Amino acid sequence: MDESFEQRLSAAGESVEQALGALLSPEPRPGERCRPARLLEAMRHAALGGGKRLRPFLVIETAGLFGVTPAAAMRAACAVELVHCYSLVHDDLPAMDDDDLRRGRPTVHKAFDEASAILAGDSLLTYAFEVAADPATHPDPSVRASLVLMLAQASGLGGMAGGQALDLEAERRATPLSIEEVIEMQAMKTGALLAHAVEAGALLGGASPAQTAALSRFGRAIGAAFQIADDLLDHRSDATTLGKRTGKDAARNKATLVSLLGFSAAERWRDALIGDAVAALNEAVPGPAAATLTAAAHFVAGRRS
Ligand code: IPE
Ligand code: IPE
Ligand code: MG
Ligand code: MG
Ligand code: MG
Repeated sequence: MDESFEQRLSAAGESVEQALGALLSPEPRPGERCRPARLLEAMRHAALGGGKRLRPFLVIETAGLFGVTPAAAMRAACAVELVHCYSLVHDDLPAMDDDDLRRGRPTVHKAFDEASAILAGDSLLTYAFEVAADPATHPDPSVRASLVLMLAQASGLGGMAGGQALDLEAERRATPLSIEEVIEMQAMKTGALLAHAVEAGALLGGASPAQTAALSRFGRAIGAAFQIADDLLDHRSDATTLGKRTGKDAARNKATLVSLLGFSAAERWRDALIGDAVAALNEAVPGPAAATLTAAAHFVAGRRS
């Protein structure tokens, strides 16, 4: 992997960790009466000390294409990561994928209890919108309103949560989903939030409508490739490398492109999506400025964890 890409991803990951740590500190913030200790601990368990931080990285790097500093993009970056962390807590619950290992540690409902995991998820999700809407996120209220609207659409009924519902419904179906249905479900459960990260960066950077449309295509393509890579890793990797259990998708009868098409066709599909992503990116920002996001697209396809 590109050395400078790896360094940038890990540097962004450290800044995100710090910013999330500050957002989740024990002192109540203006408007809060108190921060219940056990709930805050469960939220910190979910949000701190792990994860690739790819979504916040995409916000920061996309905004950076337009001259926005990482510090100025950090709160929008944290907002999407808070939603992502909540989605993982709920995804792991017994009522959903029933997992006991996440980011190399016990899942929140194992380390705490189910009620704490549900409430930690609720609170992370809600906090994401508080962080996005706060004047500290951007001086222009219309930019903040757009950010909140976009994050809501990416997270809810027509986005991540809706995709999770389709994913769970598919487990119980007598007939497998079609390829088109799997693509739609994955575009919602995973693609929407990854695309949001890129679109949020474009919004902060004041991208033109044409650039925003091309960047959005980039985000959706890497989002689709990201879930194919995740599904391949579920079959081929191991819990020590991934920090989460493997072999679960087949065991739970999950609808994936890997189960429908097999390994090599799924890999070809993933690689074609990366080709589409890079083409869309070059349309938005030609030249060397796009090098880091191009490397991010290749990272999505080739990742080992
Ligand atoms: C895992 O996302 C869930 C999926 C959408 C496939 P990541 O692989 O980005 O998880 P972390 O944040 O690095 O743990
Ligand atoms: C989860 O997909 C997507 C989310 C919205 C959290 P998976 O269920 O495949 O994610 P992992 O494999 O548990 O991380
Ligand atoms: Mg799942
Ligand atoms: Mg899962
Ligand atoms: Mg998975």
